[in-house]
Amino acid sequence: MRIDVVFGLQQLTPQDTQGRVVAVIDVLRASTTIAVALTNGARAIIPTESPDDAVTRSKHLERGAYRLAGERRMLKMEGFDLGNSPLEHTREAVEGKTVILTTTNGTRALLAVQGARDVVVASYVNLTAVSAMLRSALRGGADISLVCAGQDRQFALEDAACAGRYVHLVSRRLATLELNDAALAATLIDRKYGDNLMRLFNTAAHGRALAAAGFADDLTSCAAVNSFPVVPIYQDRQITKLGPERER
Ligand code: MLT
Repeated sequence: MRIDVVFGLQQLTPQDTQGRVVAVIDVLRASTTIAVALTNGARAIIPTESPDDAVTRSKHLERGAYRLAGERRMLKMEGFDLGNSPLEHTREAVEGKTVILTTTNGTRALLAVQGARDVVVASYVNLTAVSAMLRSALRGGADISLVCAGQDRQFALEDAACAGRYVHLVSRRLATLELNDAALAATLIDRKYGDNLMRLFNTAAHGRALAAAGFADDLTSCAAVNSFPVVPIYQDRQITKLGPERER
């Protein structure tokens, strides 16, 4: 039994994901937005690599059935219905719709994960729900990888801290567990900020950039631990809610 943390896509190798249960973390903001959209009744989220891919994908759906969503440089693209702010993915905006989402790092990280047994989308807003799913997978004998989307394939402080929180919760009282060094480092970062997630976000480069771009309220949403207790599972190129009909 082991939990490995990958600090950014530049470190990701096929062994990190093959046959494992993988949690993809992009706290600011894609993971959070996905949890919010699913809780608010989105039928599914389809992650895509680029805005062009999102538009191409939308052509397979009826106009009223989807929302085109996402960001580049934090802002909604022209012709898109929604940006990547969790505050935009309200029930009114997404209920009953398929959200076709493209973001700079988060959706790319999801698309980069290959060969996993299960892929789940993790953030602070669904911390306890996703931790419980991961812990049960671990106790059932699965190895876990926590893949931080990071920033431009590199380390991002907020994703590392969130990974550390997951390591802490998932590994509690499991004596025979192995952790890689990144998992140990992530727990130290989590401990440094503790429950003061606004201090974490206001320290991290992407958190500061979001605040400067007018998205300070998004930081508050992303810091609301367990406010959207959903388990988003990525399978067959779409993300849906784990429910009674889709138990692991
Ligand atoms: C990403 O995927 O890079 C982020 O979610 C960017 C953002 O904050 O919108």
